[in-house]
Amino acid sequence: MPNAALHITGARPNFPKAAAVISALQLRGISQVLVHTGQHYDPNLSEVFFTQLGLPTPDVNLGVGSGTHATQTAAIMVELEKLFSQRRPAMVVVYGDVNSTVAAALVAAKMGIPLAHVEAGLRSFDKTMPEEINRVVTDRLADLLFATSADAVEHLRNEGTEAGRIFLVGNPMIDTLLRQRERFDLDGPRTRLGLSGPYVLTTLHRPSNVDRPTVISDLVAALHAVADLIPVVLPLHPRGSARLRDEGLLDHPGVLVVEPLGYLQFMGLVSGAEAVITDSGGIQEETTVLGVPCLTLRPNTERPVTITDGTNQLVTSASVVERLSAVLAAGRPKKWPVPPLWDGHAGERIAAVIADHLVQRS
Ligand code: UD1
Repeated sequence: MPNAALHITGARPNFPKAAAVISALQLRGISQVLVHTGQHYDPNLSEVFFTQLGLPTPDVNLGVGSGTHATQTAAIMVELEKLFSQRRPAMVVVYGDVNSTVAAALVAAKMGIPLAHVEAGLRSFDKTMPEEINRVVTDRLADLLFATSADAVEHLRNEGTEAGRIFLVGNPMIDTLLRQRERFDLDGPRTRLGLSGPYVLTTLHRPSNVDRPTVISDLVAALHAVADLIPVVLPLHPRGSARLRDEGLLDHPGVLVVEPLGYLQFMGLVSGAEAVITDSGGIQEETTVLGVPCLTLRPNTERPVTITDGTNQLVTSASVVERLSAVLAAGRPKKWPVPPLWDGHAGERIAAVIADHLVQRS
């Protein structure tokens, strides 16, 4: 089966998910092509993940780089149309909700190439998030929809997706976490930061938080108030970095800003944190599995299972200090629930369905 499954990756959160699916398909002897769109190109947002997670070097890098949503999505589409025409993949596999995901979904669907969406059905019901638009469109076009949680299945069913195309498989990003856990760098980043005691880890990159000046000044004030209680380690994503610095983020000795970290270094810091304050999607899931309290600086989440079956809660700039104080007083949970099927075998379940589908069509 030449070029059976063609994977589209492009941005940091795609890589841990793709690693789990690609390795499971490899074990089944299915030929694969790995495409990197170039949406993320800084070595510490991209290359370091390939090295640390043992991902194969991409067969193709489209090198599209940054741009407005339309520019970036269109550039990926133009390049993928040429690539799919040359390679004629039997299936295109897309991950998550980034611009690379929706661009590939549109091209595959219009060319009549079967499309699999890993992490289907998540909904924040907030169309001001670009990712929500990417999710809805991708799911509408996908032939195989792989869901991480029961609520995602329910959303797809409510939208009229046929039951036979939806597969509740668990969470492939958690496969990667469980596989790599022994290798997490627990001490390196802390030693480099001179941290010997407790700390919280923070990440911020959502446009709704870091693109708007009034929101940023409230956030910086809130993080300074957090840093009055406990050191705040903040690996800073390039989006918003300049604005957060301009707003005085570094004017508190307890705020320790570092460059984005590799997977093993970042997960080492998550594992050792008293709590995580974030606006990321994936980190809500990773903290849930690691039992690290997570305070999500957003008005909603497409991952409510991390609240009902995990360690997550939604907070605002106004509430984060009070909520964090309560979390610090309670300490890390000794026991906590983890969503069903987040057991390290989602990649195998996805590979089994893809393999069946390819056999039926060959
Ligand atoms: C993208 C995803 C977001 C995901 C995030 C993870 C979309 C719409 N958003 O957001 O869902 O949570 O990745 O990181 O796909 N930049 C660099 N170096 C890079 C890449 C980007 O400096 O390697 C800077 C550029 O100024 C760029 C900006 O970051 O314009 C935003 O990058 P982009 O890929 O558009 O979105 P992210 O904010 O990274």
